[in-house]
Amino acid sequence: MLQTINNLLQEISVLLIKNSEELESYRLKYLSKKGMISALFDDFRNVPGTEKKEVGQKLNELKQEALEKYNSVKSSLLNTEDISSEVDLSRPSFPYSTGSRHPISIVRNQIIDIFSRIGFTVSEGPEIEDDDHVFTKLNFAPEHPARDMQDTFYISRISSEDSNPEDILLRTHTSSVQVRVMQNQKPPIRTISPGRVFRNEAISARAHCIFHQVEGLYIDENVSFADLKQTLLFFAREMFGEETEIRLRPSYFPFTEPSAEMDVSCKICGGGGCNVCKHTGWLEILGCGMVHPNVLESCNIDSNKYTGFAFGMGIERLTMLKYQVNDLRLYFENDMRFLDQFKTAF
Ligand code: PHE
Repeated sequence: MLQTINNLLQEISVLLIKNSEELESYRLKYLSKKGMISALFDDFRNVPGTEKKEVGQKLNELKQEALEKYNSVKSSLLNTEDISSEVDLSRPSFPYSTGSRHPISIVRNQIIDIFSRIGFTVSEGPEIEDDDHVFTKLNFAPEHPARDMQDTFYISRISSEDSNPEDILLRTHTSSVQVRVMQNQKPPIRTISPGRVFRNEAISARAHCIFHQVEGLYIDENVSFADLKQTLLFFAREMFGEETEIRLRPSYFPFTEPSAEMDVSCKICGGGGCNVCKHTGWLEILGCGMVHPNVLESCNIDSNKYTGFAFGMGIERLTMLKYQVNDLRLYFENDMRFLDQFKTAF
C-alpha cells in the first residue's frame, strides 16, 4: 500500500491540468467519494497494526497534496482561463446610450431662453381650468364657437345648453395662465406661459387633441404695436436665423384688437417656394395682437393707463418647421428611432 501511495504522490505532482474539464476529471479520479484516495482510506482498515502509523501519515500527506493541487489549479484557472478564453478582451465595451431630450422640450427651452434674454419671466397654471379663465375673462362672447363642445373637452358643465363661467374644462390655450397673472400682479407684466393644451380634434398628421403652446404677454404704459413687431422679429431671428424676415397679416381673436397672424420667411427654400411653405415662401407660426381693453378691465387693470400685447404659438408646429418633421403624431409615439435623431440638439 505504501508503494501505491508513493506512486500516486509522484503521479499527482507531475500531472498537468490545463483547463476546467481536466480539473474536474482530476477531482473525480482522486478526490471524490468514489475516487482513488477514498478507496485507499477504505483499505486502510486492512493495514497491519505495526504499519498503520507510517501508512496513515503517508495517506494523509497524499490527501493533502491532492487537495492543494486541486485548489491552486482551480484558483489559477479562475484568473486566467475564464477571462482569457471565455471573454474576448479585445472586444469593444457596450455602447452606453446617452438618451436625448424630446424635440418638444428642446424647442420649448429655446423659446424660453430667447424670451428670458429680453426680460420675460415664465408663468405656469392649471391644465384643468374653468370657463372664466379660458373664455369669459378673455372677451369670448357666450355664444362664441370656440366654446363649443367641438373644440373644448368639458369636465363638468352647469347647463348642457349655455356656457357658464363656472364650467370646468381642459384649457384650450395657455392664455388662461395670463389671466391669472393679470389678476395677481400689477403692471409692468412681461411673461411667457409654456404648457400643454387640449382641443377636441381628430388626430391626424397635422392635428392632435393634445399639444403645447407658448403664449406671451407684455403690459405696461405706452406699449405699442411697434413693440410687438420688434419683439417678434427678434424672436424669429433668434429662432430661425439672422436672415429671417417676418410679415404680419390681419386676423381676429376675441382677446386682442387689432389682431394679426405672423409668418416667417421659409428657411427651407429661402423664400423661393417649396412644398413646406406651399410655394408661398412664408410659414405661419403664431397669432398676436394688442390686448383688448375689455380683457384688461376684466382683470382689474386700468385700460386708460395701460396697454399691452400678447402672442401665442404652437410648439409642435415650430418644431415641425425647425426640424422638418412631417407628422405630428411622431411626437407622442416615443419611437426611439425618431427620438434618437435629436441627440445632438441641446
Ligand atoms: N390664444 C391663441 C390661440 O390659442 C393664440 C393667441 C395668443 C393669439 C395671444 C393672439 C394673442 O390660438
